[in-house]
Amino acid sequence: MVNLATKYMGLNLKNPIIVSSCSLTHSAEGVKRCADAGAGAVVLKSLFEEQINADVKALADSTVSQFHAEEWDYIQRMGLDMNADEYLKIIEESKEKVDIPVIASLNCISSDRWTEFAKYIEAVGADAIELNIAVMPRQFDEDPDKIEKHIFNIISNVKHNVNIPVAVKLGPYFTSMPRVAKGARKAGASALVLFNRFYQTDIDINKLTHESKNKYSSPAEMSNTLRWISLLYQEIGCSLVGNTGIHDGEAVIKQLLVGAKAVEICSTLFVNGMSQINIMLEEIQKWMLDKGYETLDDFRGNMSHKNSKQPEYFERQQYIRALVGLD
Ligand SMILES: Cc1cc2nc3c(=O)[nH]c(=O)nc-3n(C[C@H](O)[C@H](O)[C@H](O)COP(=O)(O)O)c2cc1C
Repeated sequence: MVNLATKYMGLNLKNPIIVSSCSLTHSAEGVKRCADAGAGAVVLKSLFEEQINADVKALADSTVSQFHAEEWDYIQRMGLDMNADEYLKIIEESKEKVDIPVIASLNCISSDRWTEFAKYIEAVGADAIELNIAVMPRQFDEDPDKIEKHIFNIISNVKHNVNIPVAVKLGPYFTSMPRVAKGARKAGASALVLFNRFYQTDIDINKLTHESKNKYSSPAEMSNTLRWISLLYQEIGCSLVGNTGIHDGEAVIKQLLVGAKAVEICSTLFVNGMSQINIMLEEIQKWMLDKGYETLDDFRGNMSHKNSKQPEYFERQQYIRALVGLD
């Protein structure tokens, strides 16, 4: 019998499949459905810092000021119908309904006063927090060092307020991923979730409008995650979690082979249904049995950069080979 258990940020997961932050985890009932389907943990749908700031202002103002009304109007126009209190209730109710770890998610761009809200998330029983740091630099003269420091500041401000672990979900667009990963760890991240998948923008050329396209990922999108987990494995002193494009058991095995502690999935659940979790777990178990592995640690990281025979050539060699063989 194989054992799929894994420890992630000090949390005990019965298996490495985590349902990532999305509408499937937007309610306690949704969380229960994920747990019943076999998930090892769930990340709740994100609460946006704008929602927290609006609540903070509401508390500060005994009367609803013009500013507050405008802020609420903005929030509702964005479709954010929930306030921060309701989010805390979802955490509490989820914890009552399931016995798997429940990770709260905060989507943020600033290191503002909202970071204090992390205390309440811990107080109502969340097992951890995942920060979706959605900073998208658009200024032409913005100093990269300053941008990175801003990201590290967000992490340390949140971490300063809580004792539970804080994971950081990052996008792939940095000049130096190793430097950002190390800095995030130093700022207090217990884990890095690689990578966030940004809103896919497109244009409808008939209506001449901006559209969102490809809401769900495809399996072809997984390779960047595979590369960076492989390169960062055992280099930065925190757990790494694969995210984006992981649709089946084979993809999970690949992530574990390069060193992931766990994976986060959601598109495959929208496309194939919640039963996909069980199918993926069975695929992993079958492969482990075939290979004679009993635990995930028996093979985790075996195909990482660190464990490759010539690490100094690993990336460059693959790259040249791929280009030479292209035509
Ligand atoms: C409908 C939908 C809603 C999502 N909402 C959030 C969210 O609130 N917060 C977040 O961090 N990620 C959100 N995501 C991104 C997913 O958590 C995940 O990072 C991304 O979809 C890549 O994983 P996948 O390839 O398994 O879909 C959402 C994704 C989808 C499809």
